[in-house]
Amino acid sequence: MRNMNESNITEEVLNTIEHTQSPRLKTIFTAMIRHLHDFAREVELTPQEWFTAMDFLYRAGQISSPQRNEFILISDVLGVSSLADMLSDRGADGATETSALGPFFVEGAKMLKPGGDLIESNEGEPGVVMGHVCDQKGQPIEGAMLEIWQTAHNGLYENMDPNQREGNLRCRMLSDKDGVYRFTTVKPVSYKVPEDGPGGDMLLSMGRHAWRPAHIHFKLSAEGYRPMATQLYVEDDQYIDEDAVFGVRNSLAVGFKRNDSADEAAKYNLQAPFWVVEYDFRLRPA
Ligand SMILES: [Fe+2]
Repeated sequence: MRNMNESNITEEVLNTIEHTQSPRLKTIFTAMIRHLHDFAREVELTPQEWFTAMDFLYRAGQISSPQRNEFILISDVLGVSSLADMLSDRGADGATETSALGPFFVEGAKMLKPGGDLIESNEGEPGVVMGHVCDQKGQPIEGAMLEIWQTAHNGLYENMDPNQREGNLRCRMLSDKDGVYRFTTVKPVSYKVPEDGPGGDMLLSMGRHAWRPAHIHFKLSAEGYRPMATQLYVEDDQYIDEDAVFGVRNSLAVGFKRNDSADEAAKYNLQAPFWVVEYDFRLRPA
């Protein structure tokens, strides 16, 4: 091992992981070491640059908290989260596409009955979101758990905004016997991912913006089906084709349709005008 040089050091390191117990972990470590070493050779990495990278990760750890995971943001803006989603969507065969979980999910939101209200005292344009949870063939699934979260009118999630009450614009809901889910909420707005940490510094240094098109997050699970996270995007949002985290898919860009009928609005305890989103989720077997 003393005769190492820039060409053979990769093999020397790989020799030391021969006894990794998990075959999957061994595959991942092997590829990671190869790619990292090739990367260093390709860019002729200097010790100072590598230290800068390590300091970047240190700062990402420092700014992270139970409410904020900077590493998820960094993964998202580099497109790695979306790439992993795309790889897991292979063979989806009509099932709803996944779209990044993102850093703002919180476990254990309040339970709402189908038809429940998320608007409460929030400012914004009122609307109703509804549809079914189905299998890949469109057969309804009863008792599927939907976890739903979105930003308020100011573009902030409640866990990033001390002015919102805890749990604002978050809920869990079970689909009914016909697979139906429905809730009223305010229209989501486009927002910027946090720019005040190393993830934001990286975006800035790349000459990129931090905007995401307006969306509502969903996490779905049902017995016998593969759990998934996805997002529904406002189709005509100005950032729909330049999402900072590469989450948009054609199948997830949906019409938020305006309805001016007071009678229709009254069915949902809303005032006209209001907007309507209809979307059926399709889950894959576990
Ligand atoms: Fe989001």
